[in-house]
Amino acid sequence: MQPINIGICGLGTVGYGSYGVLKSNQEEISRRLGKLLCVSHIATLSLKDGQDIGDVKITDDAMVVARDPEVNILLELIGGTEFAYQLVLEAIAHGKHVVTANKALIATYGNEIFKAARDNNVIVAYEAAVAGGIPIIKVVREGLAANKIDWLAGIINGTGNYILTEMQSRSRPFVDVLKEAQDLGYAEADPTYDVEGIDAAHKLTILSALAFGTPLQLEKVYTEGISQITPEDLEYADELGYRIKHLGISSLSEQGIDLRVHPTLIAKQELIAKVDGVMNAVLVHGDAVGSTLYYGAGAGAEPTASAVVADVIDIVRRMGCIDNSKEGQEQIPALAFQHEALRDTRILPIEEIVCAYYLRISVQDKVGVIADITEILGDNGISIDAMIQKDPDKSGKDHEAIPVIIMTHEIQEAVMNKAITELEGLDAVTAGIIRIRVAELG
Ligand code: HSE
Repeated sequence: MQPINIGICGLGTVGYGSYGVLKSNQEEISRRLGKLLCVSHIATLSLKDGQDIGDVKITDDAMVVARDPEVNILLELIGGTEFAYQLVLEAIAHGKHVVTANKALIATYGNEIFKAARDNNVIVAYEAAVAGGIPIIKVVREGLAANKIDWLAGIINGTGNYILTEMQSRSRPFVDVLKEAQDLGYAEADPTYDVEGIDAAHKLTILSALAFGTPLQLEKVYTEGISQITPEDLEYADELGYRIKHLGISSLSEQGIDLRVHPTLIAKQELIAKVDGVMNAVLVHGDAVGSTLYYGAGAGAEPTASAVVADVIDIVRRMGCIDNSKEGQEQIPALAFQHEALRDTRILPIEEIVCAYYLRISVQDKVGVIADITEILGDNGISIDAMIQKDPDKSGKDHEAIPVIIMTHEIQEAVMNKAITELEGLDAVTAGIIRIRVAELG
């Protein structure tokens, strides 16, 4: 049996994990494919302690793998964007199919990469780029292809979810938990990508384009991370019946597409509120199917390798019947919709979104403060759903401050911005107001 040759570029957590799964499950994969997969070439700057690649050819120059005539499928598992982009284009130009786990690459350069792939009759697959081991790309692109998708929402950063879960359940300090997530291989090379929401923005860019048939538009995602969330916010939210999760949300309305990642209050009884640790979950609502939920490990060597190797298997199954030149159409379009049918649907600016809010307001404990606050909210047409007043600031930074927590009903973000500016102008308000959006995922 003539093997299909795989070239692996990058032998980090995901690269070595993929090598391991290809090797350990080789026989089972051959039973599925009727063909043998063989890792024939690996690019890595150096082998780490304990890494064993047998007699596989090795180079420190990934471009050599991209140009190797024996390689049929190149796995781009290096990460980063600029070099990875050049490498993928080089592989495509040499007629190779590509599998990547690189969400930053696809979110940033996917439109150009998919065009190059169409022009060269090759496939660029990227299942591992979103939600680790959950096959969510296949779900949105293929499994739900009969639907008009209305909205999707997901916990799509494992590191962030791990940190919030540990902060909530064990009152552990943020930095310790982040360090642990790095040691476990969950975090990005630059962990600010995880904690500032950038990694989730990359993934949401991809999911939203697949769901609504638009080009990838990373620059339009409203992005907030979890670095401002305190253990007290998690505790107060709990008291009010909510969990705080870092959520990516995209929904389609007559006004346009809502596209945002930020910490979000979710009612505790929602299934997605119970998704803890490094696990990811994505809710997708289609007009025919209704709500569907997908759950699994969002990061880590083997879960991500599961998605990478599944893409390899998919490509091998489609090899020999890829012809994008036929009426210019792709059999399975990279972004779910035929490229000429993609629409430039308007992305809503964050000021136009409408949702309920959690506000944490630090105030001096004196007569009339609550009346002043409720007057400003009332004047702006903001209705209060619940309010609690806590003991003085537990952080010890401001012994005089009393945290007042307000849950509002739905209101447009622009109105909430105006009200917050007015509230922060009150003499009795001692610090910037913390605002967390609420999602009702119905
Ligand atoms: N740093 C990412 C996460 C890895 O924590 O979700 C998987 O994309």
